[in-house]
Amino acid sequence: MGYTDEYQAALENGEHYWAEQAERIHWFRKPQTTLKKTESGTWNWYPDGELNSCYLALDHQIAQGRGEQVALYYDSPVTGSKQAISYNALRDKVARFAGALRSHGVEKGDTVLIYMPMIPEAAVAMLACARLGAVHSVVFGGFAPHEMAVRIDDAEPKVILTASCGIEFDKTIAYKPLVDLAIATAKHKPRCTIVCQRPLLKAELNNARDLDWEQVQEGVEPAECVPVRGEDPLYILYTSGTTGQPKGIVRDNGGHAVALSYALNNVYGMNEGDVWWGASDIGWVVGHSFIVYGPLMGGCSSIFFEGKPVRTPDAGTYWRVIAEYGVNSMFCAPTAFRAIRKEDPNGELARQHDLSSLRWIFVAGEKLDSSTYNWLSELLKVPVLDHWWQTETGWPMTAPMMGLTDPAEPRLGSTHKPLPGYDIRVVDGEGNEVPVGEAGHICVKLPMPPGVAWSIWNNDERFVSSYLTAFPGYYHTGDGGYRDDEGYIYITGRTDDVINVAGHRLSTGEMEEVVSAHPAVAECAVIGVNDELKGQLPVGLVVIKAGEEIDEAQLQAELVQRVRDQVGALACFRRAVVVKRLPKTRSGKILRATLRKIAAAEPYKMPSTIDDASILDEITERLQQAGFDRAKAPE
Ligand code: COA
Ligand code: AMP
Repeated sequence: MGYTDEYQAALENGEHYWAEQAERIHWFRKPQTTLKKTESGTWNWYPDGELNSCYLALDHQIAQGRGEQVALYYDSPVTGSKQAISYNALRDKVARFAGALRSHGVEKGDTVLIYMPMIPEAAVAMLACARLGAVHSVVFGGFAPHEMAVRIDDAEPKVILTASCGIEFDKTIAYKPLVDLAIATAKHKPRCTIVCQRPLLKAELNNARDLDWEQVQEGVEPAECVPVRGEDPLYILYTSGTTGQPKGIVRDNGGHAVALSYALNNVYGMNEGDVWWGASDIGWVVGHSFIVYGPLMGGCSSIFFEGKPVRTPDAGTYWRVIAEYGVNSMFCAPTAFRAIRKEDPNGELARQHDLSSLRWIFVAGEKLDSSTYNWLSELLKVPVLDHWWQTETGWPMTAPMMGLTDPAEPRLGSTHKPLPGYDIRVVDGEGNEVPVGEAGHICVKLPMPPGVAWSIWNNDERFVSSYLTAFPGYYHTGDGGYRDDEGYIYITGRTDDVINVAGHRLSTGEMEEVVSAHPAVAECAVIGVNDELKGQLPVGLVVIKAGEEIDEAQLQAELVQRVRDQVGALACFRRAVVVKRLPKTRSGKILRATLRKIAAAEPYKMPSTIDDASILDEITERLQQAGFDRAKAPE
């Protein structure tokens, strides 16, 4: 069947379509129920099927004769090390480590927090949890201890897994003290912290709860896979929402396995034995879906890369990896290619490598600008395919289906057509569908397909209020955009207080909480401004308390340090601009949507509820004075 038939089949009888797709994975016990509505008004796919995600990723592959094939190619230009780990070897490492976790009390349903750099032990940690039916929660290395503490208190992990250090270009970042500080700050205390010691920097195991990664494995029995139900959680992944409290997105085992297997073959066009590279980090959803679980469940060899696109050692490192391992396809955030292009505008470094293995490149995570698209397409002479998804969905909502015989032609500016299972509608503020070509809120008609998250950890109500309430009957993506007359979707950006900095999803609300806590600050708004390299950067608009005498440069330095200490370096909060007043509605709400438009140099309509319209001119002028010359006056 071609795209149109597949899409129609899923639209007309979703349950039947996804029951058939469930045949593509190995169940210990096949699901009797395909789709179940829950009491809180969400859904579960394959709730009563029995499976194990680690079994699918490793043991099942070995049973299919892939034991000697490479499962992970670890490539670390920052340490000069490389490893090719076969499915057999990875299964043995995972089973042993799972045995160690079990001997420290980790059982099915327990939570385990993972704070680790891109080393193979991080994949071992995730898969070992899955093997036991335990629920992992990976926290990205760039988050500060405060952010980790918030996640510890929410997920209440029995055990924390970490490494002695991470490496950022030429900087060695000691992880263990960050974990210690997070545990000290959090109310919940894990039973133990297991530390993987890296040769570059050893951690002091100075707390009673500290354990050594190798020692915990001595003399333990390897663990077998524990069957779990399709609806049981595989992992929690925290993502930014509009408030300071991140949302613990919960992924199930059954729907996830079916969706990833479906997407790997049909969307990414990957087959068993192919070499796939998800150029991201295990701290993000891409790392979960398409560095670890997806490619392994699909019998591919997955690249596990510890480095950056530039300066590790140069802007040719991605091309070297593609050539060295014969990468057939990859995922990457556009910002990485912008970074490469900045260093090597003529692509000289790419031309030094044989990139003939590459069939196409997928990009997502943020807007793909036309100049990066053109540069990359001309340089590589392969399709550069924009596609769109979110942490919540776990796999793409719109994308070309490269595994089908008739993938539609890409269209510049569009993230392509909806995938089977995603009935995408563009609606206005009242939930009415808008005409073709008109911008609105992008929503998906319920129910969503398998793999999509259906709850927030310990907080189903928040899931319902965040995603299902604004437009009844739809999942609200939080993205704005439009559809063209042939059904291609165009994403214009977030309609809430989430920004995307270097492909990293961040909440401005979270930064606002930190900035407002400064003693000199009366109130503030943090907005995302456009940035050529990172897509967006946060800027604080700050009102100083009456009578406060503080130099603007000093205030900025203090605020930058606070955000760095509390949110983390990855926030890239480097600018704070003092303003006299912030624009508000008559009921006192800050007009963030209008501020966002001013900062993005987009035309805006004067909000009818504005209390004092002259403030917008004041802010535009202040931003222009502060060097944000794109800030623009109203239409
Ligand atoms: N551990 C610790 N610190 C980290 C970190 C990690 N895992 N990741 C980022 N940071 C720190 C960086 O060291 C930097 O700190 P600094 O302010 O002291 O320099 C800060 O967070 C900002 O990082 P980043 O925005 O990534 O900037 P960069 O200059 O280090 O790298 C790029 C710029 C474009 C090369 C890099 O952002 C990149 O490769 N982006 C692609 C991201 C991606 O693949 N996203 C996929 C998500 S799906
Ligand atoms: P995350 O949950 O970190 O994957 O971020 C998801 C958000 O990134 C989406 O809601 C979009 O705002 C943005 N995003 C993802 N892919 C694209 C894309 N291809 N084009 C534009 N924005 C994107």
